[in-house]
Amino acid sequence: MKTMKPKILVTREVFDDVLEYLSKYFEVASNQSDQPMESETLAVKLSDKQGAMITLSEKIDATLLARCPNLKAVCNIAVGYNNIDIEACRKAGVMATNTPGVLDDTTGDFTWTLILATARRLTEAEAYLRAGQWDKWKLKQFLGLDVHHATLGIFGLGRIGQVVARRATGFEMKVIYHDVHRVVPEIEQASHARFVSKEELLSQADIVTIHVPYSPATHHLIGKSELERMKPTAILINASRGGVVDDAALIEALRSGTIAGAGLDVFENEPKFNPEFLGLKNVVLAPHIASSSKATRHKMAMLAAENLVAALTTGKPPNLLNPV
Ligand code: GLV
Repeated sequence: MKTMKPKILVTREVFDDVLEYLSKYFEVASNQSDQPMESETLAVKLSDKQGAMITLSEKIDATLLARCPNLKAVCNIAVGYNNIDIEACRKAGVMATNTPGVLDDTTGDFTWTLILATARRLTEAEAYLRAGQWDKWKLKQFLGLDVHHATLGIFGLGRIGQVVARRATGFEMKVIYHDVHRVVPEIEQASHARFVSKEELLSQADIVTIHVPYSPATHHLIGKSELERMKPTAILINASRGGVVDDAALIEALRSGTIAGAGLDVFENEPKFNPEFLGLKNVVLAPHIASSSKATRHKMAMLAAENLVAALTTGKPPNLLNPV
């Protein structure tokens, strides 16, 4: 007798070969039209499934899990997993996984895209040119911040923070960092980074960049008082998660000149971010694309698929977040 394949749900559009791979092992229901699912639709579609491959847009919590009695694994196509209640998964006997490692370099590269574009006011200058306002060369036009030889302050010297630090060598920068724990000397040396207090980082850095996971502990890590500690000439870069920065406080700081500029890939309540950002010239805005190179998004989706296959066949997915 032919055994039934486990049923899984792929909540958003993925690459064809990833679906093909999953289809070898599972009966796949997938949302290739890519319509984001409301929590009710997600609960209905997941109610008879053993596994799910999800994105950071889908929230997995105790209420949802209570409606999915067969569920054994949820596999995020992201390294950040604040969309998943890990403890609720543990209680429900559901394995949760993420995609660490494969996106570090690409996310680090994009952090540098934001650093350079913000420091040199690229999007502001381009908007001016596109609007037909460029009538003459001016000595004082779009005066920016020099990145070379500047001080780079990194919050969170984890995998991505380290990539960002290593890339700073080419710009001959001074690199300082702050983290909940000081990293081992080998990593400090490889990153050419010196551990400082949060206050020192904020007051010394010309460029502050954030690479911490979002959790209750990092909610509004950067708020009004932190922004006030920064140099008025400094810029803030966030390619981590919305919520780590207090967006209302940042808007006020950008408007009043408390800091010089910001480069943001993530926002509170994204994609419905605070529209006041749009009225500010000194902010570079991106729609959460830091890991979005063709190769890396494919690697992320394949790794999530491999986690799901391993979870439902061996019970040992490589990137298990909640070992029992
Ligand atoms: C993207 O934001 C990720 O966490 O991978």
